[in-house]
Amino acid sequence: MSMPSSPATDTLSGDALFSDALFSDQWLTLREPADHLARDAQLTHAADRWLTRRATPARPLETQRTLVDLGCGSGSNLRYLAPRLHGTQHWRLIDHDAELLAHARLRCEHLSSADTQPIHLESRHSSLTEAWEHGLQGADLVTASALFDLLTPADVEALADTCQNHGCAVLFALSVDGHIRFHDASGAPLFSDDDRFMLAALETHQHRDKGSGPAMGAQASRHLREAFHRRGYHIREATSPWRLGPESLTLAESLLAGWRSALHEQLPQLSSRVDRWHGERLEGLMRDKLTLTVGHKDLFATPMASASGAPA
Ligand SMILES: C[S@@+](CC[C@H](N)C(=O)[O-])C[C@H]1O[C@@H](n2cnc3c(N)ncnc32)[C@H](O)[C@@H]1O
Repeated sequence: MSMPSSPATDTLSGDALFSDALFSDQWLTLREPADHLARDAQLTHAADRWLTRRATPARPLETQRTLVDLGCGSGSNLRYLAPRLHGTQHWRLIDHDAELLAHARLRCEHLSSADTQPIHLESRHSSLTEAWEHGLQGADLVTASALFDLLTPADVEALADTCQNHGCAVLFALSVDGHIRFHDASGAPLFSDDDRFMLAALETHQHRDKGSGPAMGAQASRHLREAFHRRGYHIREATSPWRLGPESLTLAESLLAGWRSALHEQLPQLSSRVDRWHGERLEGLMRDKLTLTVGHKDLFATPMASASGAPA
């Protein structure tokens, strides 16, 4: 789940305003191991194979591939993908947060590909709206992780149009899908009235405007699938849930703190009910009586074959 942080507070505790799309490096660093563990490896292999098949006599595999990472944050998606893809890679990192972009460059410049080829980095401090217009030139693969719940359906339509025009494939990881469950020690899902009520309120909160209209929240993966399908893309999807137990307590604690802040905003008149639910669920996690699953989806989509491009 994307969890914006206030630039003013910028804390790990999720003490967030949730009013914009700014994120702390601490939060992105904290979630990175869970993200990498959750991602579907098969879709990454499929993207690697697609990039390899895209090689033609005029454009052999040794030619570098251009990959664009939208909303790159501090570079987690690149750290996952670059060492799993073959060939020389030119990565264009796009984010509206200059500080995160600088972190990404610093922490990714020593990466190499699966076959030890160099990785070239280019960073663009720009909005995603600018990216749809000018950021995807020459792209073979457009990628993003943990991004789309923040954006609008119109953003996805604009992105899908641009990708179709450029004939590039897309690999979008970790879009929240709204499937959140606590489980007891036997693995049975808990779904009390309070769970139902709080999770529904959280989902509503996710749709708040992040700057360009109501955000897609948990509807993001559906919008992505439909937009690319309508443009003739071949779609593959997989689930990529976080499964948070005792080994990921700090992440779970931080996530729940963010949820509590969001619920205080969403249900200002019910703050003591929110605090009670938060306290009970947090205690269950800390005492090792509960685990938490947060659902995501990964999507890999390839364009229809074209005279100049790769097979779908
Ligand atoms: C949840 S973070 C994910 C970061 C990274 N992809 C990861 O997986 O760690 C979302 C990122 O998108 C960026 N972002 C959100 N809205 C944006 C916009 N409209 N234009 C440019 N970047 C945006 C944020 O600055 C942030 O770095």
